[in-house]
Amino acid sequence: MAPPPKSFLLTFLFISSFTIAMAAYNIVDFGAKSDGRTDSAKAFLSAWTAACEANKPATVYVPPGKFFLSKADVSGPCNNKAIKIFIHGTLIAPSSYSSSNTLWIRFKYVEGLSIYGGTLDGQGQALWACKQAGRSCPVGATSLTISQGKNVLISGMKIQNSQNFQMSIYGSTGVTVERATITAPEESPNTDGIHVQMSSFVTIRNSTMRTGDDCISMGAGSANVWIQKINCGPGHGISIGSLGLSGDDEGVQNITVRSATFTGTQNGLRVKTWAKPYKGFVKGVTFENAIMKDVQNPIVIDQNYCPSKKNCPGQSSGIKISEVKFKNVQGSSATPVAVKFDCSPSNPCTGIELKDIKLKYQNKGAQAFCRNARGTVAGIVEPPSCL
Ligand SMILES: *[C@@H]1O[C@H](CO)[C@@H](O)[C@H](O)[C@H]1NC(C)=O
Ligand SMILES: *[C@@H]1O[C@H](CO)[C@@H](O)[C@H](O)[C@H]1NC(C)=O
Repeated sequence: MAPPPKSFLLTFLFISSFTIAMAAYNIVDFGAKSDGRTDSAKAFLSAWTAACEANKPATVYVPPGKFFLSKADVSGPCNNKAIKIFIHGTLIAPSSYSSSNTLWIRFKYVEGLSIYGGTLDGQGQALWACKQAGRSCPVGATSLTISQGKNVLISGMKIQNSQNFQMSIYGSTGVTVERATITAPEESPNTDGIHVQMSSFVTIRNSTMRTGDDCISMGAGSANVWIQKINCGPGHGISIGSLGLSGDDEGVQNITVRSATFTGTQNGLRVKTWAKPYKGFVKGVTFENAIMKDVQNPIVIDQNYCPSKKNCPGQSSGIKISEVKFKNVQGSSATPVAVKFDCSPSNPCTGIELKDIKLKYQNKGAQAFCRNARGTVAGIVEPPSCL
């Protein structure tokens, strides 16, 4: 198909910006300043409230420029289920941290929300320095939280340098994140890209994460999650868990990760539970079409997680892991053991499937390690399976 003529594009752009101008609650009209210093929190809240109270579809508009936002913790339910937020500029978080501050931007109890574009700068550097110095530091703020939401789309957003998690999806149904670019330095602590918890029908696609922790992590109660076309690395990979830290956990089920590339990450595809007796389950996970480039642990189930060797040595995970499939995983491991299934002695993993696996270590054969793991093998599997 020939590209549309320029005049058509210009008309289209003109009409769409006209529509935005007409229907939008522009934060600048509510007093926001794009100087990167003046706190635009009140203006953002006022624009949001106008959109939320509107009885028809409404738009909040953040124009180009840098807007300092001390906090935006907004809540529904709203009078309409079609709020759009167009962000052309950058929202900048405070660089200070405190233990009372665990979130920066949160949308709570909102149904029918779409956020397009935008850069969120979490300014986590000062807190990372505190954590890296081994001092006792606050957890820090998650940059963007969707809590108890329904039908939420986040498209084309850039999130960088969060204090703690970059994005968290909690207690929500029907959340799609697409074309996200999420970045933080490799050595920044706890900067998970997207954390999913107690949520179902979550889609994360066509996104890039370069972070200091998991690219995507799925905690207790994650169900019906679809993850597709992800570039991950540096970072700690795509993980289910950790589960079973401090009590029984809601199960994790029906998770698909398709077409992911991992570059220089600590892990590739991982399921992790604490070596503690708390109950829970992970069931029905398909990891397929993954490329590993120098990944330390490309395929790993670790049920003996006990990092500080406190309160767990000698114990056994109460989480039951079953029906986890790894299909078409290729590339290079940065350590000799490319496949590791270290399952619970009291709850062995069952129904693990390996199909078409081709992982090398320094262009030579890699190894597989199994403990308390049962399952099946199909196609060519290298390193040879120990299931
Ligand atoms: C995601 O990427 C696929 C493959 O490149 C493309 O066909 C699809 O349109 C993309 N979707 C979005 C929402 O960007
Ligand atoms: C599994 O999750 C996908 C979305 O990721 C959904 O389309 C599908 O219906 C779910 N399957 C079941 C059995 O719930």
